[in-house]
Amino acid sequence: MMNYDWLFRLRRAILVGLVILSTTFMSVADEGMWIPTLLKKYNMDDLQRLGFRLSADDVYSVNHASLKDAVVLFGGGCTGEVISSEGLVLTNHHCGYSSIQSLSSVENNLLKSGFWAKSRSEELYSPSLKVRFLERMEEVTDKITSNLESLSKAQQKEKIQERILSLTQELETDLFTEAVVKPILYGNQYFLYVYKVYKDIRLVGAPPSTIGKFGGDTDNWVWPRHTGDFSMFRIYANTDGSPSEYSDDNIPLKTKTFLKIKLGKLEKGEPTMVIGYPGKTQLYLPSPAINMYQTTSFPTRINIRDIKLSTWKNFMDKDPKIEIQYASKYARTANGWKKWKGAILGLSRFHAIERKKDAEKKFQLWVDSEPERKKSYGSILPRFDSLYAQFAIYNERHIYYQEVVERGADLFQLSTILNSFIHDKDKGILVDQTSLLNKIDKFYNDYNPVVDAEVMMQLLSLYIDSVAPEFYGKSLYKIRDKLNDKYFVKKVYNKSFLLDKESVKDFVVNYSRSERSKLTKDPIFKLKYEMDQTYVFTSFFKYQYINEQIEANQKSYVKALKEMNGRTRFKVDANLTMRVSYGSIEGYSPKDGVIYRPFTSLKGIFEKSQTDIMDYTVPQKLIDLYKSKDFGNYINEEGQVPVAFCASNHTTGGNSGSPVLNRDGYLIGVNFDRCWDGTMSDLMFDPQYCRNIILDIRYVLFLIDKFSNAPNLIDELEIVQ
Ligand code: ARG
Ligand code: GLU
Repeated sequence: MMNYDWLFRLRRAILVGLVILSTTFMSVADEGMWIPTLLKKYNMDDLQRLGFRLSADDVYSVNHASLKDAVVLFGGGCTGEVISSEGLVLTNHHCGYSSIQSLSSVENNLLKSGFWAKSRSEELYSPSLKVRFLERMEEVTDKITSNLESLSKAQQKEKIQERILSLTQELETDLFTEAVVKPILYGNQYFLYVYKVYKDIRLVGAPPSTIGKFGGDTDNWVWPRHTGDFSMFRIYANTDGSPSEYSDDNIPLKTKTFLKIKLGKLEKGEPTMVIGYPGKTQLYLPSPAINMYQTTSFPTRINIRDIKLSTWKNFMDKDPKIEIQYASKYARTANGWKKWKGAILGLSRFHAIERKKDAEKKFQLWVDSEPERKKSYGSILPRFDSLYAQFAIYNERHIYYQEVVERGADLFQLSTILNSFIHDKDKGILVDQTSLLNKIDKFYNDYNPVVDAEVMMQLLSLYIDSVAPEFYGKSLYKIRDKLNDKYFVKKVYNKSFLLDKESVKDFVVNYSRSERSKLTKDPIFKLKYEMDQTYVFTSFFKYQYINEQIEANQKSYVKALKEMNGRTRFKVDANLTMRVSYGSIEGYSPKDGVIYRPFTSLKGIFEKSQTDIMDYTVPQKLIDLYKSKDFGNYINEEGQVPVAFCASNHTTGGNSGSPVLNRDGYLIGVNFDRCWDGTMSDLMFDPQYCRNIILDIRYVLFLIDKFSNAPNLIDELEIVQ
């Protein structure tokens, strides 16, 4: 068997030599979200080539404090970093958003005004916010998968779940230790992660939304960017440093280690490292899957969301109250919608399907070149073709169901909440009534019946036009011809008791089984319930069944690809575990004749504020600081306050809030987004276009120091000039 390992090594050695000889940075965009414990084995050449002066041990070690001890899983799906010896954590504004919102009231809207605790006693406890520190991780493939060959697939699955449960339960010796086993490479390998969970987390500060969300949806996914997307929290613990529930007696956590901050010049081509918790990528999909995303899944979702977004927008533009009520729903819905649009363009520009097909040809040649291989792997690609052909219709229906029913009209979502309420009640499962009533209050705060009836009508009409009648459900079938009649929809709507907050709360508080039919006979609830049932029985089981076979085939495919790849490193999809991405500060050319510089500054905020776009409203104080040039030493070579930069790190959702480190491991920025032209990188990484967007740490410090007058926090940091 031919092995080209020596060739790779030679090529690398030459590249490393080049870096040593030249003084400027070699800029190389780098695909991959690497596993911290495997850096030593696979990534050190790359790190040196890019100019990093860090050892693998500096990044991850269990024997001494390392960078990994300063990076936390923030809440359920963001990253944060510890930046002081007293538990101060930095993350994005959009990651702290819901905590800040919960701590706000109409009279004291912290999102609007911003918030800075001037002393520890003013820091605000954020219920239900957690941060997790990774204590250790290790591969446990043998423990989970050994001696299963004789069992059936179903038995294997069961056994694996059993082993995972017994392994994690054994390790979870208290309420603040969490053990998680996660598969990588579609279950070819398993890793164990042990976390320490801190639950007393307090808000320290956040700029007003006009800074923290500057640019809003207009600029979301967009470069050049000027969002001051950060917020700060503090971890509190027992006096001995162990985690605890909230208590007045808790003190700021004395952290094992924290990130030191580097102020000073950033250069194009300079290496950048992102350590964080990327959520999900699918880098090994075959061509029929890419085809499905590019031509069906993404366009269908975009199409449905177009309707939701434009309907909301119509109302929002006319009524400021509705604008506030639907702002967050709009942002959430628009986030994926815009990302997928970018991904479709990116995949087509990259000739993604052709590239995958070329790679598949090479794979097939490799498979066919040995009889043993042919026997084990020969049917993988044809099987994908046939599975995806069968899957198409179920996939499409799944998308319609998700976007129109599950995440459809507001009252459909309320129906889901109430359905699980009566289910739990009837089964005697304990229901947290206070939190349910709070949820219901929050629902009606952000709800307008006229807007929602219009959304419902539009979405159901689309459903009827796009999905075959046998998938409607009885009620929808009955009203199928009358949906365009606005009066009719309102009539259905007005018969529903879900329209009235007090009746719904009353239903919850006084529920008994005999009251059940009040809900189950409600026209909106019934419509939704029947659509659920119809979907599950006609489509979902089939969807799941084919999906399982696709996953199993994907497991064999990745196993074979890894074998074909030989002993060299192999990239692993993101799965919301700690990863390291490296790259360099790098702009790009989005189209002919245009080149993006990788840096922005306060000047750009001022420029944007001169337009009449609402998302570009800036607080007067920031304009004043800009005009008086009161910048402190938070400036770049041009004498401007830097705001953001972009780089070629491979990142995805979950990487929000991740620390961005320079060649020496000092903090230079906070990751918060990707550039629109490169959002395809969840499926394929195009080094020419895929860029992450980073908040410059100098802007963060400038805002804390000059804008928010919180010098107490600056004193807490360790700053390297
Ligand atoms: N696009 C970023 C991320 O996926 C930021 C989203 C929040 N910002 C916004 N304007 N909606 O999640
Ligand atoms: N804003 C994203 C997040 O919340 C990061 C952007 C991305 O998808 O890369 O994690």
